[in-house]
Amino acid sequence: MSRTVVITGASAGVGRAVAVACGRRGDRVALIARSRPGLDGAAAEVTAAGGEALVLPCDVADADAVERAANRVEAAFGSIDVWVNAAMVTVFSPVERLTAAELRRVTDVTYLGNVHGTLAALARMRRRDRGTIIQVGSALAYRGIPLQAPYCGAKHALRGFQDSVQAELRQEGSRVRLCMVQIPAVNTPQFDWARSHVDGRPRPVAPAYQPEAVAAHILAAMDRPRREVWVGAMTPLVAIGSFLAPAFADWYLARTAVSDQTADEPPPPVRPDNLYTPAAGLHRTRGRFDAESAGRVVGADAGLWRWGAFALLAGTVTAATAGLVARRSAPRPRLTS
Ligand SMILES: NC(=O)c1ccc[n+]([C@@H]2O[C@H](COP(=O)([O-])OP(=O)(O)OC[C@H]3O[C@@H](n4cnc5c(N)ncnc54)[C@H](OP(=O)(O)O)[C@@H]3O)[C@@H](O)[C@H]2O)c1
Repeated sequence: MSRTVVITGASAGVGRAVAVACGRRGDRVALIARSRPGLDGAAAEVTAAGGEALVLPCDVADADAVERAANRVEAAFGSIDVWVNAAMVTVFSPVERLTAAELRRVTDVTYLGNVHGTLAALARMRRRDRGTIIQVGSALAYRGIPLQAPYCGAKHALRGFQDSVQAELRQEGSRVRLCMVQIPAVNTPQFDWARSHVDGRPRPVAPAYQPEAVAAHILAAMDRPRREVWVGAMTPLVAIGSFLAPAFADWYLARTAVSDQTADEPPPPVRPDNLYTPAAGLHRTRGRFDAESAGRVVGADAGLWRWGAFALLAGTVTAATAGLVARRSAPRPRLTS
């Protein structure tokens, strides 16, 4: 059955891949981002894939504008079934080179922009007691890494916000579903248009995946919303590893994360910058890392990963304790003279 789906950040990258995948299923897809030409391009792909598209240019940092966009969706397509928050901006920079205005802007879009989308969706879904809201999260919602402090802060904040709303909905006995899909590095245009204060050219930390591969898990979450989904093998490693051994993660990231995020090529002489206004002419689904990006990726309910890690830990502790007890109770060899 076709659905009405709203996607923020739909003009490029992961959001655009989700929009086209929804189009393929015949959904009515409302596309939110700032760039009208970028949205028109995405809408053409949605329509070609078999869906219906509605283009809604809007800056998600503006809560009133997001609310107006939600009204327009329902006027055109009827009640919203699914709302996907994928809009983001970031600044690649060591913290000492960031300005307060840059930190605020990343927070306004990448944290509050997703909150605004969630509130607009909730206002409508709560009344009807149905609907699904999906946050496109990141492994970096669990672990901050060098050069991405404002982005990692926003993703952590979003996870905290999501937990609070989740518990409120549970307390109300609501049937509205909230899901956060934590994804690994993806081959999108963000590395070419995000503001950067680093010397090299920004790149995703390998292994990277194609946006379509990640979008498949977001679509699966629409069909069967779970509290949280971890996509890619690195995501559970980062989430569980940073809980168990944060100091080791500091040590490891200090050695690797700066070089892993900068390509061995000089930045172009004029670099686009999409922090406050959309970059012109670059809106597309994939970035420049096609050659190294995998077309498939595993993903699973985060609860399964957590239980698996717990079982492994409990098994290891039990085996170690049993070994110790066996050694202590074994008869000691007698010394003979
Ligand atoms: N790529 C990765 O490696 C990666 C890894 C983990 C998680 N993620 C998550 O995946 C999601 C999408 O990331 P991406 O890599 O696809 O990013 P991207 O390629 O930079 O695309 C960002 C999208 O957000 C829109 N946008 C930016 N500022 C906006 C604003 N103020 N209002 C409305 N729309 C705005 C952009 O369009 P306009 O310019 O037209 O506004 C574009 O459609 C994000 O939630 C990100 O955290 C990505």
